[in-house]
Amino acid sequence: MPIILEPTDLSIQRAAEAMRAGQAVAFPTETVYGLGALTHDPRGIAEVYRMKWRPSNNPLIAHVLDAHGAREIVEGWDPRCDELTSRLWPGPLTLVLPRRANVPVEAAGGRATIAVRSPSHPVARRLLQELGGESISAPSANRSGHVSPTLASHVAEDFATELDLMILNGGRSEFGLESTVLDLTTARPTLLRPGTVTLESLRQILGDVDAPEVHEQGASPGTAPRHYAPRTPAALIPINGIRAALALEPRPCAVLCFDPSHVPSPHTGITMPRDAHLYGSTLYDALRSADTLGCARILIEMPPSADGLWRAVVDRLRRATA
Ligand code: TXA
Ligand code: MG
Repeated sequence: MPIILEPTDLSIQRAAEAMRAGQAVAFPTETVYGLGALTHDPRGIAEVYRMKWRPSNNPLIAHVLDAHGAREIVEGWDPRCDELTSRLWPGPLTLVLPRRANVPVEAAGGRATIAVRSPSHPVARRLLQELGGESISAPSANRSGHVSPTLASHVAEDFATELDLMILNGGRSEFGLESTVLDLTTARPTLLRPGTVTLESLRQILGDVDAPEVHEQGASPGTAPRHYAPRTPAALIPINGIRAALALEPRPCAVLCFDPSHVPSPHTGITMPRDAHLYGSTLYDALRSADTLGCARILIEMPPSADGLWRAVVDRLRRATA
């Protein structure tokens, strides 16, 4: 198994040294754990793609300490970024901007743009500081297509065969869903991936923001319809539709629902919070647990809303069940 390290000064130094030597290191963020390498080191970037089994055309997010760090890797500076970054950074908002020529094209999946965000998790920030403000390119620390990790142990499970991988332990990720991705290189700002920074709050700052329902793979490969998926086949069921769905299912199912008293044996109910924020922070752990039960199917009760914070939850549920 990989090595899980408590985030002491010494282990942060070791992690930074490993990254400077061209290795990938897993670290916590407030959204999900990331598998990071130095943005400017093509060796480390290649390691990230290899370990994740990630197609080389799926670009990575560069993590920086602040807007100053972002300006080092983007071309020009879109004036809209001032307000976005002063209000929402550090935090779960990723901006897609023109890539500076000095950023290796490998770190951007071959694109002329680069996605950048400033994580708020203290361990991620200590690692960035230890690297002297150099940017870290990091996708979520899961094998490609699988559920994102919100605990160090999730990373260790996905990368069980990577014996030398260092994982900095930062506890449970506060938000538990990947960052909001906003493309500022399009004619109008475009929401590529909903997250904890809501579409409504972005519209308050920017006015118009496009939010296409189904993303083309080309626009942002990580938004392919089936993604964030457990290994057990999963299906969404309407709210209050559990009894009807289970009546048709003779084999044991795992059921993520708001009221497990509707789940008779031999099925297993997993209680989900009614609060969108709490739901988001526990969803991936629940999907990973459901996956270990050896059930025939995972059934997931549809949340009560698809707006605000629920938009990101519903987006991930659709992809997990696509
Ligand atoms: O919360 C997060 O964003 C986490 C943590 C570790 O920061 N990272 C994460 O990375 O979710 P990843 O690689 O799993 O997802 C990045 C998403 C993908 O959908 C990718 O296609 C999109 O961002 N993306 C990255 N760079 C892009 C670019 N230049 N243009 C369009 N989409 C981009
Ligand atoms: Mg991912």
